Amino acid sequence: MKKIMVIGASGTLGQAVVQELRADHEIVEASRGDHRFPVDFSNEESVRALFNKAGQLDGIIVAAGEAHIGPLKEMTAEQFNKGLQNKLLGQVRVYLIGQHHLSAGGSITLTTGIITDEPLRDCANVTAVDSALEGFVRAAATENREIRINAVSPTMLTESADIYAAYCPGFEGVPASRAALAFRRSVDGIQTGRVYRVW
Ligand SMILES: NC(=O)c1ccc[n+]([C@@H]2O[C@H](COP(=O)([O-])OP(=O)(O)OC[C@H]3O[C@@H](n4cnc5c(N)ncnc54)[C@H](OP(=O)(O)O)[C@@H]3O)[C@@H](O)[C@H]2O)c1
Repeated sequence: MKKIMVIGASGTLGQAVVQELRADHEIVEASRGDHRFPVDFSNEESVRALFNKAGQLDGIIVAAGEAHIGPLKEMTAEQFNKGLQNKLLGQVRVYLIGQHHLSAGGSITLTTGIITDEPLRDCANVTAVDSALEGFVRAAATENREIRINAVSPTMLTESADIYAAYCPGFEGVPASRAALAFRRSVDGIQTGRVYRVW
């Protein structure tokens, strides 16, 4: 049994990840609204406090991250910065701090999305941020060989079709439970530097 932290555990994807892993692992569920392990990963002190409270971990999963969605012709740098500060730096911050709280061979698994390869209307910020995250995964896996890092890149989740179907014409969604299997591959496997595409 490993001790795995899931940041974003209360979300659509996070709930499925917790459901997948909880049978054989101890899960530390974290999110802004969690009463035991509250965290805002856009805030450095909040992330430090979370890891100090949680103790040594064998795995860290981030199933959270927001970016700006809106027309490119009207986009401002300030709006673009939303994805940089939240989904990109939030997940990178979890790695930078979390790496010092992981057992040897432990894993960090980040979340990107199909949008790296399939740009969608109004979603330039998301494509840029997710592509940067996948670059970070490659670099971190190469430089720090003591722990593993992977990303899971889901397509639209069927549970989220109400929110995203209008942006994803002709896309076939996958159930969150299927995306959750990729997190298990990352946590229980031996690979590093991989992007598991669940498309
Ligand atoms: N849903 C999809 O179809 C889909 C497809 C591809 C990729 N993704 C990616 O998967 C990730 C999760 O998506 P989702 O649809 O599951 O989102 P969601 O349902 O909105 O859940 C987000 C989760 O993250 C937590 N959270 C939000 N902001 C946070 C912060 N600043 N610090 C810590 N926790 C925070 C939320 O709880 P609190 O509000 O309590 O913090 C919640 O637990 C996102 O990065 C998204 O881009 C989603």
